[in-house]
Amino acid sequence: LQTLEEQFPALKTTESPTQRVGTSPVSHFDEVEHLQPMLSLDNAFSDDEVQEFDRRVRERLNRKDAVTYACEPKLDGAAISLLYRDGKLERAATRGDGRTGEDITANVRTIASIPLKLQGDDVPAVLEVRGEIFMSRAGFEQMNDEARSRGDKLFVNPRNAAAGSLRQLDSRITATRPLALYAYSTGYSEGWALPDTHTGVLAALKKWGFPVNPLVRVASSLEDCYTYYADIAEARDNLDYDIDGIVYKVDDLILQDRLGYVSRAPRWAIARKFPAQEMSTRLLAVEFQVGRTGAVTPVAKLDPVFVGGVTVSNATLHNKDEIDRLGVHVGDTVIVRRAGDVIPQIVKVVTENRPDDSVEVVFPEHCPVCGSPVERVGTEAVMRCSGGLVCAAQRKEAIKHFASRKAMDIEGLGDKLVEQLVDQGLIRSVVDLYALDRDEVIGLERMAEKSADNLL
Ligand code: IVH
Repeated sequence: LQTLEEQFPALKTTESPTQRVGTSPVSHFDEVEHLQPMLSLDNAFSDDEVQEFDRRVRERLNRKDAVTYACEPKLDGAAISLLYRDGKLERAATRGDGRTGEDITANVRTIASIPLKLQGDDVPAVLEVRGEIFMSRAGFEQMNDEARSRGDKLFVNPRNAAAGSLRQLDSRITATRPLALYAYSTGYSEGWALPDTHTGVLAALKKWGFPVNPLVRVASSLEDCYTYYADIAEARDNLDYDIDGIVYKVDDLILQDRLGYVSRAPRWAIARKFPAQEMSTRLLAVEFQVGRTGAVTPVAKLDPVFVGGVTVSNATLHNKDEIDRLGVHVGDTVIVRRAGDVIPQIVKVVTENRPDDSVEVVFPEHCPVCGSPVERVGTEAVMRCSGGLVCAAQRKEAIKHFASRKAMDIEGLGDKLVEQLVDQGLIRSVVDLYALDRDEVIGLERMAEKSADNLL
């Protein structure tokens, strides 16, 4: 197609697939002025703050009855402004300081879901489309898997990956990145009949070929707004993209106009943020725990930190490769991530804050419980204690497993009791459970006669 277009330049169109593969690298990005400034949003962190926002809105509008709000997921990506003239993509710019941004048109052209030409005949003469460019979680994982196998640096999260991909000076690199767009509003426009509502604008954007988030809803009461927040909070972990909250926008555009702006944020919208999923804290120690199959798992002991809605003091470091990759020291400031029900993890070390007395974390060569050599089996990522049932840790876990609900379901034989029995040398294997001595069991710490009899 490229060859044909060179031969017959008149046949070359702006929406040709040849326009999507990237062009030769540039040395810098030009600064461009947005036709209409890109605003930011005020934040609310509770239902009360949303209620307060709604009260201010109705007070300004002098209204007793409920205001209708458009509710949208707040995507955690990079804001973009796309300028279309006569239906053709002319320029794409980052938010920058809101007034001017960087011209990243060559990069944005490579994103398949962004129309190079608006669909239909009924298109505005000039149109700024605003939206969020993001990377799907699946795309992010795949990109990092590939980077890992090449031994390249990994991206910390999909947002950084999206922003980094958009800032490539070589658009052929951007073209290989799994980027996507959801359009969420318009900026300056000319030559079309503006709809009455924000959701009407979204419908028009959809008609012209823009991806619009399918989870947008209209709420006709404050109760509906709260329900929407709860629904999205629940759906969050199952979405294929990161969101950091939701946005409520007064749906009626005339009302939006009457409300206007204060400094750089509209009075007609507010972001209801989720609790942060990433926070920084200090790594106090690393414990190496030995599991039932001998797997040695490093567990980070943290200065307790409130993240993802709970206080976290332990995080997984996964395995030896992860420790090597992070290059983490005890004493380091680390970024902890807790998303949904997933075990908290350390995603990054802030090496700039490393104290002088920090100590490098070294994976043990011998089992911390029995002293047997720790080995890697084949190409597995896990390191295992080679002690087998000689290792008290493996023995304890094996007996706990044997006694657990889905196995022998031995009532009254909990984890704590197994640990005591093994530590006191009363049992060495599951066989010994069946020869336990009543007096010995009663002699254990906090063991009532009745519980001992029940167990036996
Ligand atoms: S509306 C005037 N809607 O959040 C309103 N913003 O500080 C301007 N964002 O960087 C933004 N999802 O890129 C709006 N559904 C959404 C959004 C959204 C994400 C980002 C936006 C901006 C920030 C607002």
